[in-house]
Amino acid sequence: MSEILIEQIDQVLHISLNRPEKKNAITQGMYSTLASTLNNAAGDFGIRTVVISGNGKAFTAGNDIMDFMNEEITLTSPVFHFLKALHDFPKPLIAAVQGNAVGIGTTMLLHCDLVFAAPDAIFQMPFVTLGLVPEAGSSILFPRLVGHAKASEIFLTGRSFDASESLTMGLINSIEDTPLERALSVAAMIAKQPPNAVLNTKALLKSGSHIAIENVMLAEGEMFRIALQSDETQAAFMAFMTSRAKG
Ligand code: COA
Repeated sequence: MSEILIEQIDQVLHISLNRPEKKNAITQGMYSTLASTLNNAAGDFGIRTVVISGNGKAFTAGNDIMDFMNEEITLTSPVFHFLKALHDFPKPLIAAVQGNAVGIGTTMLLHCDLVFAAPDAIFQMPFVTLGLVPEAGSSILFPRLVGHAKASEIFLTGRSFDASESLTMGLINSIEDTPLERALSVAAMIAKQPPNAVLNTKALLKSGSHIAIENVMLAEGEMFRIALQSDETQAAFMAFMTSRAKG
């Protein structure tokens, strides 16, 4: 079974992360498929909105830590192709989140146009705890959303926050018992709107900061890549893998 499932329902494309036994941790291979799926959807007149979700109990536990340990990440790695595809995606992108949304599982939501989350959703960006730095433009997008003080607290402590706090922040649109159902239904509603007006409105909403965010993403990417090799990060990854191996 593929680790990324893609299904088209009328004019809505539904992408689901399908690696539930690893909490949908995303490998470089999965990023490649996600990037090409988004890039193809961008140019496909038959697709008007995209929904992204995760199968199983978690949305995603973020980047696969084994991949981080085993593969050299460069600015041409699939993860960065995915981030670029996400940032440039011209059509409405709607996320449905349940359970854990760690690392890129939270930062990708800052690029989504609408987000629906289950009451059990838990968001976390533990980059500093892992010896890393924020990614995916989150070092500009997150403080812009919540203010510098709150963003600093969350990034520097690495603490998680729940669905109700994410609603207060404006990270999500609403808390839903069945977030995927709600995401698909709103996606179908938007897909019926005049398509050019939808595209133009999304472009306008993002126009003020598109290039600034792209520049921040490049700077973050370079610092993240270097931090991955650091002793702090290697020790944190090793501690995670060892704790899981012990059960
Ligand atoms: N990379 C690789 N494997 C991961 C993973 C990740 N990011 N997150 C979870 N897994 C694996 C675990 O190793 C475990 O594998 P195993 O069953 O073969 O031992 C399996 O997924 C289930 O995870 P587990 O930790 O047992 O689930 P949990 O419900 O107790 O905890 C999380 C869920 C998400 C809180 C926890 O898995 C976690 O903190 N993961 C790491 C998140 C992270 O730091 N991501 C990187 C951000 S840059």
